[in-house]
Amino acid sequence: MSCKPSVCCVVACLMPGYGIGYQGSLPWRLSKEMKYFRQLTSATRDSSMRNAVVMGRKTWESIPAKFRPLPNRLNVVVSRNCQLDINDEQTQFTKSRVGDDDDDDGGDDATLYAGDLSRAIDQLIANSKILGLETIYIIGGGDIYRQCIPMSHNLFITKIVPDLGMPVPPMDTFLDREQIESQFKEQPHHKLQEIVPKEVSLPQFSADSSSAPTISEKGFTYSFTLWSRDTQ
Ligand SMILES: NC(=O)c1ccc[n+]([C@@H]2O[C@H](COP(=O)([O-])OP(=O)(O)OC[C@H]3O[C@@H](n4cnc5c(N)ncnc54)[C@H](OP(=O)(O)O)[C@@H]3O)[C@@H](O)[C@H]2O)c1
Repeated sequence: MSCKPSVCCVVACLMPGYGIGYQGSLPWRLSKEMKYFRQLTSATRDSSMRNAVVMGRKTWESIPAKFRPLPNRLNVVVSRNCQLDINDEQTQFTKSRVGDDDDDDGGDDATLYAGDLSRAIDQLIANSKILGLETIYIIGGGDIYRQCIPMSHNLFITKIVPDLGMPVPPMDTFLDREQIESQFKEQPHHKLQEIVPKEVSLPQFSADSSSAPTISEKGFTYSFTLWSRDTQ
């Protein structure tokens, strides 16, 4: 069976304003959210496949050098200062994958650089078989989400709210609320459970509740949600 990979955004937002960043970094450090991000973007239904994570140059730079490329995923970094494109790189890529030899989890880490975001995604889709791609996850930041939301099939949004009495962190980077809410609809929690591979651990929810279960950490409460295209 050969299918095109789907394109999905993964993002954590402070609600209700959809804030995602401040001064080039995440405004929070939430370990269970990071674990969810890692599991979601790494897990595949077909064990012979992997996922790509596509990010802007600023988001790439915000990841500490020792943690990048993100392991077990094909990392794709876009910058207009980059003259390369994925087709140029493909031959080289198939010959040498960065991190093949010394990665303790045995994954194939690789980083591709591309000079044009939409062309890069087209090329990832066109070359998904040779690259072994199951899903293309768009992982930020604000500039990249804005351009990729129109071509995304699903949005995995972690909705974060500060606990009562806790300060609202300052934010300077936001998702476009109108863009999301006009094109996508939040799905009932069971749809998220159905769509993610079984390796992704989601918090338990009670059968009598239709709302997503929440996690509390460091003065924030958050829930993992799935948004799909509103085709009705
Ligand atoms: N909450 C979350 O889930 C989350 C996730 C990721 C990031 N963030 C946050 O978001 C913020 C960063 O977002 P940002 O909007 O400032 O930057 P960004 O989206 O990470 O990167 C923007 C850069 O990407 C390149 N780029 C943009 N469009 C392109 C195109 N069409 N073709 C080729 N290259 C393109 C450009 O790089 P050049 O300037 O090199 O040309 C541009 O400056 C940080 O605060 C980060 O922590 C939050």
